Amino acid sequence: MSALEKAFTSKPGKAIAAKAGLKDPPRLRRGRTWPEGAIVLAEIGDGSLARRTLTLLGRSVESPVVDDGGEPTPGYGARIGALVVDVTGLTTIPQLEELRAVLRPAVKGIERAGRIVIVAHPSAGDWEQRSVARALDGINRTIGKELRGGATTTLLHVAQEATPGDLVSTLGFVLQGRSAFVDGQAWTVAAAEQPAETLQERPLEDRVVVVTGAARGIGAAIARTLARDGARIVAVDIPPAGEALAQVANEVGGTALQLDITAADAGAAIAAHVARSGRPLYAVVHNAGITRDKMLANTDASRWASVLDVNLAAQMRINEVLLDPATEGGLADGGRLVGIASTSGLAGNKGQTNYAASKAGVAGLVEAMAPDLAERSVTVNAVAPGFIETEMTGRIPFVQREIFRRSNSLSQGGRPEDVAETIGYLLDPRSQGVTGQVIRVCGQNLVGA
Ligand SMILES: NC(=O)c1ccc[n+]([C@@H]2O[C@H](COP(=O)([O-])OP(=O)(O)OC[C@H]3O[C@@H](n4cnc5c(N)ncnc54)[C@H](O)[C@@H]3O)[C@@H](O)[C@H]2O)c1
Repeated sequence: MSALEKAFTSKPGKAIAAKAGLKDPPRLRRGRTWPEGAIVLAEIGDGSLARRTLTLLGRSVESPVVDDGGEPTPGYGARIGALVVDVTGLTTIPQLEELRAVLRPAVKGIERAGRIVIVAHPSAGDWEQRSVARALDGINRTIGKELRGGATTTLLHVAQEATPGDLVSTLGFVLQGRSAFVDGQAWTVAAAEQPAETLQERPLEDRVVVVTGAARGIGAAIARTLARDGARIVAVDIPPAGEALAQVANEVGGTALQLDITAADAGAAIAAHVARSGRPLYAVVHNAGITRDKMLANTDASRWASVLDVNLAAQMRINEVLLDPATEGGLADGGRLVGIASTSGLAGNKGQTNYAASKAGVAGLVEAMAPDLAERSVTVNAVAPGFIETEMTGRIPFVQREIFRRSNSLSQGGRPEDVAETIGYLLDPRSQGVTGQVIRVCGQNLVGA
């Protein structure tokens, strides 16, 4: 901790920070926890997908309070835990008023770390329907910026043909504390004909999952969280990190593989390791990543090449080997691939052209691969973390770090486990309809959210 950081975290320092408007950030709800208060369900139009999915999740629902324009604005008797609005039947601009009327009392009455979830169909139809679909996006992003106390909002675009079985893992994830740092985001759930099952405590039981960069930081958290969910972890990191890697692998009851992922035979080495376990490979989480920051004017070919190779090209080469049906120990049909992008990559960030290229490239890669792998039922997604408290971000000078960590709707940095939980959701066998998506885990970062 630097002298400046010590001064700021001391008692007088905290008082000065509070005066400057830097209040203690809200405490987030994490893990497999449900909202404490009631789950309120509003249905606009004749859609019933959210209702049927909440039934699968075993959640009872209450009716919404509706703002009828009278005085005073009606409110809820006690704080509510979540508002789920099914707008799958919403198609016209005047119907947006119905949405406002259920949102208004809810944003006033939502509990700490509560949830607003809007369940819509993807943009389609006539001019008005498509414009309304975008209006929902604007509403979702704005509510995220207005909610207080760690409450979050999410917009889900769910395919017309989707069933409650297709939505159950997604709605469960969003309502539970696992989505603590996912705020103001929208993503798509396709129809995958998932059986109508509820959430499971250990959805990855006995499934082999490779996690690269697992010796520390976000990678170690991914290994721990996925092991909690039942996975058999193969923890990969470079030989100099061997000791820390062995510790993580032992802790989660997995195996360690010392490997530089940029090695030409990295894919073959991973496959051989998995083949020795005698079990099929279910998923690969490409988490290993590096930064070599410099303004572009000072970025030479070697800084450029190393970042692009570790963060992007290596995972593409490894995927190619593991996706080859001839590879013993390769990825099984129905498997999962996850890449790690970054909000700085998606939005652009001064001094990080190489990193932004690599991380935006990861988003492009998953979008390109997803349709090609659909016939093998392999899903390919990315998570894009914002500011996460790790050794990587711990190296940023204190004042700059404090600005970065507060520059989002939840006024704090995320934890490695927040990224890990989102990956756990993507790996859940019930998330089959979620593919080609880039989900930001950034607390609705002001940059690129
Ligand atoms: N920390 C953040 O705020 C943040 C934000 C956005 C994205 N990310 C991304 O999340 C991922 C993890 O970040 P972190 O903060 O935990 O980083 P970190 O530096 O703490 O850990 C990265 C791990 O990857 C390993 N690694 C690096 N090069 C490797 C290689 N060639 N082969 C095998 N392993 C290698 C390192 O040894 C290390 O253990 C990275 O891809 C990073 O770009 C992090």
